[in-house]
Amino acid sequence: MARPGEHEGAVQTPRRVAVIGAGYVGIPTAVLLAHFGHTVVIAERDEYRRSMLQKGLSPILEEDLEGLLAACVSSGRLTIVEDAAIAVSDAEFVFLCVNTPMGIDGHADLSYVDAVCTQIHAALPHGAIVINKSTVPVGTSRRVADLLGRPDVPVVSNPEFLREGTAVRDSFAPDRTVVGGDNQEAAAAVGSLFALTGAPLVVTDAPTAELIKYAANTFLTTKLSFINAMSQLCDALGANAVDLVKGIGYDPRIGFSFLNPGPGWGGPCLPKDSHALLAIAGTVDEEIPLIAAAIETNDRQQRHIVSRIQELAGGSLSGVRVGVLGLTFKANTGDRRDSPALVITSLLRSAGAEVVAYDPTVPSSETSDDLEGLVIVETAEEAARGAKVLVLLTEWAEFTTLDFGALGDVMEQRAFFDGRNIVNLDEARAHGFTAWGIGRS
Ligand code: NAD
Ligand code: UGA
Repeated sequence: MARPGEHEGAVQTPRRVAVIGAGYVGIPTAVLLAHFGHTVVIAERDEYRRSMLQKGLSPILEEDLEGLLAACVSSGRLTIVEDAAIAVSDAEFVFLCVNTPMGIDGHADLSYVDAVCTQIHAALPHGAIVINKSTVPVGTSRRVADLLGRPDVPVVSNPEFLREGTAVRDSFAPDRTVVGGDNQEAAAAVGSLFALTGAPLVVTDAPTAELIKYAANTFLTTKLSFINAMSQLCDALGANAVDLVKGIGYDPRIGFSFLNPGPGWGGPCLPKDSHALLAIAGTVDEEIPLIAAAIETNDRQQRHIVSRIQELAGGSLSGVRVGVLGLTFKANTGDRRDSPALVITSLLRSAGAEVVAYDPTVPSSETSDDLEGLVIVETAEEAARGAKVLVLLTEWAEFTTLDFGALGDVMEQRAFFDGRNIVNLDEARAHGFTAWGIGRS
């Protein structure tokens, strides 16, 4: 496995690569390939993202990214343009890394993928390989081939499994590389671009590669919903979810990974991809009740947490001030797309609460639509001031060392809910707090 920064300029035969879309997937992909020695042109239509990249700066919060990015840009191996057609004009490999948000009835919205095909079909050099790295429904490789209308251009599916917050590490040392296509030679050529990562290579057909991506993400949702359901049962039975996790996680068949109960799973991918898999199954008259139950359990977990906060508030949230710590969908990212914290703050507000929130990535001046109705402050103490309950929803490291003495002094009453089970509740209790966590009172 490669470590970030290893194998700089190591490839024997540098290839010409285009990456369309400079987001959480496109940037790490471009940086990885440029770092190994390929020549990469990245196309991004968003001016802010483009101008940051051109300066060698990262427009997204990702550990280890900025140094590598700056080195790739200053070496000339990574350049940034606006127009996808220009990016592909000299490319041997073209990676589509554009967004595929949730569309109608849970189906993936492929309009950005379609638009790129229209943009690049005439500009693609003879024999270039187009690679779908975006998460797309089964059949999209063939749809892309049809839209391109270029029999000389093979289309390969190469799903991406990186996580936000560890995107660089995951790109340099992936668990596996999956490539699939009708043209196995093209699929193998794409796989060889990632050989320096040392990851096992799975070569298959395009529909299987496309389905693998959804299977991986939805498997994770079932594991998370299982442990969240167990934490609800712990609350009802007076059992302790932290000890329960230890008691089952040491079994290697179960494992500790993705076993932390929390405020529900969210982010830009697990929610949309679980709905998309149900929609894909629907196209062939199949149902997957397991996935539907994982989604329902997730919604139930968020309602359950709100009812626990309401209990801590004394039975009603009407007119109650609640302090919230953390708004991103998990720690170490600035991403709030489908954040469980925002679902919970919205439920709290619907129940009549006034929500004052602090997140290290959100300045109080920020006015994005998703923050409407929230009061954003700059410190944990400001979030706690005047609050009847203080609620931790994102596992930022700084929240593991909260000063409960100081927080209690500014609150209306000393009540704390740890939505990530990262705080030593006994310490809060020693300062007079009623303190509960997920599946532990
Ligand atoms: P993103 O929204 O951060 O980035 C996509 C970028 O593509 C945007 O900056 C957008 O402006 C740009 N774009 C769209 N159309 C364009 C065009 N025609 N020309 C140039 N630029 C264009 O999205 P993301 O999070 O990087 O996700 C991309 C895909 O990868 C999605 O399908 C997602 O499901 C999948 N994925 C995401 C992650 C993740 O952790 N975010 C992980 C694995 C897979
Ligand atoms: C997820 C997958 O883990 C990646 O493999 C995949 O590539 C990516 O989706 C994608 O397709 O975009 P990511 O969205 O970055 O990655 O987030 P995760 O680390 O998977 O976390 C998802 C949600 O589950 C978060 O809300 C997180 O807080 C929650 N979670 C995770 C828990 O509640 N408990 C855990 O133990 C782990």
